[in-house]
Amino acid sequence: MNLFMTQSEWPSASLARFPDPSQILVRTAWKSPSNIALVKYWGKFEGQLPANPSLSITLSACYTETEVVCTESESGAMEVSFLLDGQPKPAFEDKLKTFCQSLLPQKPFLKGKHLWVRSRNTFPHSAGIASSASGMSAFCLALCTLENECTGALAKKEDFFSEASRLSRLASGSASRSVYGGFVLWGKHPLEEKSSDEEAFPVSWNIHPEFRGLNDWIVVCDRQEKAVSSRAGHGLMNGHPYAAERFRQAFQNIERMKMALVSGDWETFSFITEHEALSLHAMMMTSRPWFILMKPTTLALLDALKAFRANTGCRVTFTLDAGPNLHLLFPDSEKENVNDFLISKSGLNLRPEDIIQDKEGTGPERIL
Ligand code: PMV
Repeated sequence: MNLFMTQSEWPSASLARFPDPSQILVRTAWKSPSNIALVKYWGKFEGQLPANPSLSITLSACYTETEVVCTESESGAMEVSFLLDGQPKPAFEDKLKTFCQSLLPQKPFLKGKHLWVRSRNTFPHSAGIASSASGMSAFCLALCTLENECTGALAKKEDFFSEASRLSRLASGSASRSVYGGFVLWGKHPLEEKSSDEEAFPVSWNIHPEFRGLNDWIVVCDRQEKAVSSRAGHGLMNGHPYAAERFRQAFQNIERMKMALVSGDWETFSFITEHEALSLHAMMMTSRPWFILMKPTTLALLDALKAFRANTGCRVTFTLDAGPNLHLLFPDSEKENVNDFLISKSGLNLRPEDIIQDKEGTGPERIL
């Protein structure tokens, strides 16, 4: 699909008619990647502020491309029209509109504007992979470009990305981390003076080469929509019997993770990464109502992975998002072993389309 919009490419199925090119005030497009958390964000306070700091790796192959065209709105009210893969998506259009309207008091340049938004994801929607981090960060980066073109307020690169991360956080917490490449920390932690609950920052740590360019192969264990939305999931941490201990554990795991990442300690890195993934799922299993998001395939794969690792000493570890799909993390030197494990030793008939081969990436890119 050619991302950039013309009048004839805007489908007639959409309620809104794409404007004449002469009416276009600003147009821009951004490509922004997904990220995978090593230390998980699960639980939040008013204002989309996290209950604990989280640490992620920004990916590269799983990304969203979003084009935003800005015109004056015919109705005079702030409007948003949205297409995903060329098709109208009314539910998501409403979400973007509500988000933009909530920004009006702090972003007066949006008043009376119509944003024509068109997105595509590199990963199939049906793969059960969350697109909110890449999708919302791509949109917020485009909003910052609009703001800068309209007001000149974000001319400095640092200000631009700081604001893009803050806005992305308001749209979807974990999206705040996708604005930067590499290892990214979101949430105030005494280890990083610059860290903040309001926006994410790339860590200043001297990451050991062992952990640079880490692979993240996502094994799609189930293609269904998530059984619990992240908004509901975060809400379930309110009054959760283990919440206070979980938040304390996450603070401590950031510290232990830093030590492992800097010293090249794979064992500790692997232990904390897995402990975080299973703690996230343990929180869901022990909430009221409870949720079990892992599927039989996830568990079979975990069993097989444990045995394979014990037999071979392969340096591969796993994490999970709020869903059933397994993320396998490993250095380049283990690529053949991991491939062999998945294809021949896992005991599951995995097809190439069940495995998304991703790795650490350098962050978003402006493409228009
Ligand atoms: O950004 P949200 O509200 O979709 O929350 C995402 C939470 C997890 O993906 C489960 C963990 C994380 O830190 O990314």
